[in-house]
Amino acid sequence: LIGARSMFSLSESQRCVREVARQFAEDKLFPVAAALDAAHAFPRDVVRELGGIGMMGCQVSEGRGGAGLDTVSYAAAVEEISRGCASTGAIMSVHNSLYCDAIEKYLNSEELLEEFLRPYASGERVGAFGLSEPGNGSDAAAAAATAVYEEGEWVLSGTKAWTTNGGVADAAVVFATTDKSKKHKGISAFVVPTDAPGFSFGKPEDKLGIRASTTASLILDGVRVPREYLLGKEGDGFKIAMRILDSGRIGIAAQGLGIARAALELAANYSSNRDAFGKPISSLYAIQLKLSEMATSIEGARLLTWRAAAEKDAGMPFSKSAAMAKLCASEAATKTAHAAMQILGGMGFVTDLPAERYYRDARITEIYEGTSEIMHLVIATNLLKEYQA
Ligand code: CAA
Ligand code: FAD
Repeated sequence: LIGARSMFSLSESQRCVREVARQFAEDKLFPVAAALDAAHAFPRDVVRELGGIGMMGCQVSEGRGGAGLDTVSYAAAVEEISRGCASTGAIMSVHNSLYCDAIEKYLNSEELLEEFLRPYASGERVGAFGLSEPGNGSDAAAAAATAVYEEGEWVLSGTKAWTTNGGVADAAVVFATTDKSKKHKGISAFVVPTDAPGFSFGKPEDKLGIRASTTASLILDGVRVPREYLLGKEGDGFKIAMRILDSGRIGIAAQGLGIARAALELAANYSSNRDAFGKPISSLYAIQLKLSEMATSIEGARLLTWRAAAEKDAGMPFSKSAAMAKLCASEAATKTAHAAMQILGGMGFVTDLPAERYYRDARITEIYEGTSEIMHLVIATNLLKEYQA
């Protein structure tokens, strides 16, 4: 299996997690991914089953109902799941890295963790993360949504745009400005149940790819939440978002790897079985060059992804590595999916085979959780700090 070869050696338990995720993808995702995509259908049953094998609370501590996995295992698992279905990979990555991680790290009450973490870690409920707005995505500090403290409650108003799991989520981590004069230091984070009065979802976005992952706005019209629903301290929101996104980018890098691997495997198999001019096209140098470039970009991106994950597990700074991993893996995904379509020729362009879906699914990985341009900005900022130090 192409994805099994790597210079990075996984521990026995990490290999075991990867194997469980791979088996799940082969048994439960490959058979349904095309139909889910065509129907734009959120895979509720799949998500519950993923919860049953620990994949919806991967890094949540075992005492709170999670699997307590390290980040390398988590990255390996997201890659396998995304290889089977990129939409499910997006659902899993946002739920785990952006929702569960933020709730476990920053919700200040054990009682609330029972409500907002345990049923999410089991896959019974789904979480979302509302940072972007209609007027600002890359410039996350420009949040226009507001939260005002009134009689022991926070009152939230505004719209969070493009939210993954929007429309289906039971709760969301929401960022809002509590003091505009303090700019990014005036942003706070909250957990908001989606059945709260004044909360509604916008219409589902009609997307190019990851169509089984729903995307919708979170509309907050004077939503009142208790004081304790604040994550961290007032004004901590921007730093919470940045720290959580550092981890989230490892998840999206892994999603990109899964899509890229699926595209390479399809192209390698197809090229060995398709003849042109009396021999398999895999014997042509033009095709071999493409396969070689695809495999090399995947292996390089995986090393970066697992390095970022290992740095996080070791308690080291990992913002730059996570940005490098996300940048390389998302570019590997789009380039590999593009090349796979070319290798399949006409069969790459029609829906009989999944090359066209991989091509559509790959594209988002260069946009969400920070665009490639923002990844360069994060890498360069960190790099320059290291040289100035
Ligand atoms: N960890 C901790 N703190 C950090 C940090 C990090 N990684 N990055 C920045 N900070 C801190 C800085 O140290 C600084 O602190 P002080 O005020 O104490 O000095 C503060 O945050 C402000 O930093 P910057 O001046 O660098 O902030 P900025 O306004 O220039 O923005 C940015 C920096 C990197 C561009 C940031 O806005 C960003 O990451 N933008 C992209 C947003 C994004 O990724 N959105 C994804 C939404 S979720 C999603 O998309 C999910 C999905 O699709 C599946
Ligand atoms: P803009 O910020 O308007 O950027 C437009 C272009 O300008 C880009 O090419 C960008 O790279 C470039 N640009 C902007 N600033 C700079 C700069 N300083 N230097 C160089 N280039 C720059 N958000 C959430 O909060 N939660 C979610 O769950 C979520 N899920 C999403 C799911 C999907 C399917 C999509 C499409 C988006 C999702 N997003 C989510 C939003 C996503 O994170 C943003 O779309 C992304 O961060 C880019 O923001 P933007 O669309 O506003 O683009």
